[in-house]
Amino acid sequence: MSMLWPNLRKAKRIKGKNLVFRDATIEDAVFIHGLRTNEEKSRYLSKTSPDLEAQIRWLHNYAQTKDQAYFIINDTFGDPIGTVRLYDPKEDSFCWGSWILKDGAPQTAAIESALIVYAYAIDHLGFRRAHFDVRKENERVWRFHERFGAQRVAETDIDYYYEIGFDKIGAARNRYKKFLPNPIEVEF
Ligand SMILES: CC(C)(COP(=O)(O)OP(=O)(O)OC[C@H]1O[C@@H](n2cnc3c(N)ncnc32)[C@H](O)[C@@H]1OP(=O)(O)O)[C@@H](O)C(=O)NCCC(=O)NCCS
Repeated sequence: MSMLWPNLRKAKRIKGKNLVFRDATIEDAVFIHGLRTNEEKSRYLSKTSPDLEAQIRWLHNYAQTKDQAYFIINDTFGDPIGTVRLYDPKEDSFCWGSWILKDGAPQTAAIESALIVYAYAIDHLGFRRAHFDVRKENERVWRFHERFGAQRVAETDIDYYYEIGFDKIGAARNRYKKFLPNPIEVEF
C-alpha cells in the first residue's frame, strides 16, 4: 500500500475574516524587501540581502517551486500588511514562518493570520501537524505559539524547535473562533 503525503500547494488567494492572503509575486519585491530589511522586524529572521535584485531573484525562483506557499497578508482595504510562508513539508507536517506584520497592522492580524495558515494547511491541503523553529530571543513569538498549544521539542543555543499536532491545532481554532468564524475561501 502506498501513502501519499500532502503537497504544499500555492493558492492564488485566500479570504479569511478581515484578512486576504495573496500568492507573492515579483511585484511584491519592494514591499517584502522593505519589511525584511527593517532592522526591528528582521532582528530574529535569517539575513536578507540589502540588494533588491536578490529579492526579485528569490521571488522569481519561488514562482517555479512546488513545495512552498508564500503569501502577502492584506487587510480589508487590500493593502499589504505582512507576509507568511508554508514550506518544508515532512510527511503530514508542514513548517511555517517568514511571518512578519508591519507596524500598525490590526491587533487581531497575528491570530487571524495564524488561523488562516492552519485552516489552509489542514482543511485544504490535508496536513495534520506543523513544525517550526523560533529564536530563543524572540520571546514574544514563541509565547504566541505556546499559547496556541505548540510544544517545545528541542533546542539549540539559538533556537527553540516546536511541534503542534492535529488536536492542539483544532482546539486553538475553536478557542479563537471569533477571529476566524467561517471557513476560509480558497482560490487556486
Ligand atoms: C511574528 C509577528 C507577525 C507576530 O505578530 P504580533 O502582533 O507580534 O503578535 P502578538 O503575539 O503581539 O499578538 C498580537 C495581539 O494579539 C494578542 N494575542 C496574541 N495571542 C493571543 C491569544 N492566544 N489570546 C489572546 N490574545 C492574543 C496579543 O496579546 C497582542 O495584543 P497586544 O497588541 O494588545 O499586545 C510579529 O511579531 C512580527 O512581525 N515579528 C517580526 C518578525 C518575526 O520575528 N517573525 C517571527 C519569525 S518567523
